[in-house]
Amino acid sequence: MTVAATRSARKRAVSPARASATDLLAWYDRHRRRLPWRVLPGEAADPYRVWLSEIMLQQTTVKAVAPYYLRFLERWPDVGALAAAPLDDLLRAWAGLGYYARARNLHACARAVVEHHGGVFPRTPNELTTLPGIGAYTAAAIAAIAHDAPCVPVDGNIERVVSRLYAVEQELPAAKQVIGELADGLKPAQRTGDFAQALMDLGATICTPKSPACALCPFNDACVARAQGAAESFPRKAPKTTGKLRRGAAFVALSSDGHILLRKRPERGLLGGMDEFPGSEWSHDFDERDALAAAPLRAKAWRRIPGHVTHVFTHFPLELAVFRATVRAGTKAPTGARWVKLGDLSGEALPNVMRKVALHALGRDVKDVTAAADLV
Ligand code: ADE
Repeated sequence: MTVAATRSARKRAVSPARASATDLLAWYDRHRRRLPWRVLPGEAADPYRVWLSEIMLQQTTVKAVAPYYLRFLERWPDVGALAAAPLDDLLRAWAGLGYYARARNLHACARAVVEHHGGVFPRTPNELTTLPGIGAYTAAAIAAIAHDAPCVPVDGNIERVVSRLYAVEQELPAAKQVIGELADGLKPAQRTGDFAQALMDLGATICTPKSPACALCPFNDACVARAQGAAESFPRKAPKTTGKLRRGAAFVALSSDGHILLRKRPERGLLGGMDEFPGSEWSHDFDERDALAAAPLRAKAWRRIPGHVTHVFTHFPLELAVFRATVRAGTKAPTGARWVKLGDLSGEALPNVMRKVALHALGRDVKDVTAAADLV
């Protein structure tokens, strides 16, 4: 740790630790996860692949990302190909990964790299953060992994590792700064990309939120929280405030010749530009007795499907009542909506919440809502 970081950390009542980057790198060389976007230690990583994986991994698990990453790479092998793709193709390929603003930013970023940087990703975190969808964490991750830049990306996993290592008493989110300084103080002079990925792997596989496997940890001797017998109690966290429940209705209209009615959400805002089943506003004071006022078609009988579809967005949980009706073939789609062949539904840009609605309405007991073929 640098002198300044040590002083700053002491001021904030963290304990000293004797962790060594060398121990962590040696552990990484033996135990790292084999992930599709990773190169072998010592090999040069392709910044495009690093960037693509880091954007996909924002708020999403490694397991969920892997098949999407491979599909994207096969279809758009470099930044030029991605920049040239129509946005709708990209949104369709992204459907199911969630947080759709990331897909729009992915496209905008690819275009910016081609138009303003000659198709070459900038190398420094500062330059990278000028691009759409790249915040401080992602910039540090890309710069470290693609170029061994002297920086440490700090996400939730790494916060946990570092807060335990130094038994940081300050609560998150206020503790972010000191944790960042402590993480930075740990970094080696070389192999910062491997070091960052080693911290990620340690957080994901050993230093887990519950029951961490301290006996297997390369920081076992150095870890202050473990010495206190209190690893699980770190990081300290301020109580969470979750958003208030919103409720609404969704209408699944089928035509007798096997089509289903979809509409596109407004370009801006939550799930911008994605497809959805027509429905009501999502509000705190939704009254289901008024739901049919939001029905897209005057069907003979809208049938309320028992139960609800629930989904948790970052800022609020949602509960949807789902209605279903079958109408005559050739019924005109209302303005802004369109009929899609049922067999093509899985190819549309349907966010997960709408996949849940489809499954609920179509009565399929399918666990993996992202499995396209299961929808129809
Ligand atoms: N989470 C975020 N970035 C990651 C990466 N490069 N490898 C594994 N997990 C990650």
